[in-house]
Amino acid sequence: MPSLDSLFEAAKAIQAKAYAPYSRFKVGAAILTPNGGVFTGCNVENAAYPVGTCAEAGAISAMLAGGENRIEVIVVMGEGEHLVTPCGGCRQRIREFAAPETPIHVAGPEGIRKSFTLEDLLPFSFGPDNLSA
Ligand code: THU
Repeated sequence: MPSLDSLFEAAKAIQAKAYAPYSRFKVGAAILTPNGGVFTGCNVENAAYPVGTCAEAGAISAMLAGGENRIEVIVVMGEGEHLVTPCGGCRQRIREFAAPETPIHVAGPEGIRKSFTLEDLLPFSFGPDNLSA
């Protein structure tokens, strides 16, 4: 099973590939699945600003493309001195494929800065279960 260190390194490697010419704020995300799969994504901005996508969305898309659909752990790597916690939309995206106790590690280039669970970041959330009769 890949270690948290290797997930951190995967997030760092994909962060370098981010396409962020407008914000100049590169983000990388790395997902570990229960099968030991590692899937990564970076933010991809667009000249039509609202069309840009977040790193977490890219990593989730890569996970599904790889035939998996459960997030065991996710690392989100940002730049600068502030914590780059997933945006509100990405918390909901993660929610679709994770459990309340799923760890979300927020990292900077030097290492993991703070660790949360999905429940910490998105309490009383709406998910697939809410749609079942
Ligand atoms: N960004 C992410 O990729 N993930 C987040 O959770 C927060 C924000 C990106 C979107 C945009 O390209 C840049 O960071 C600045 O908001």
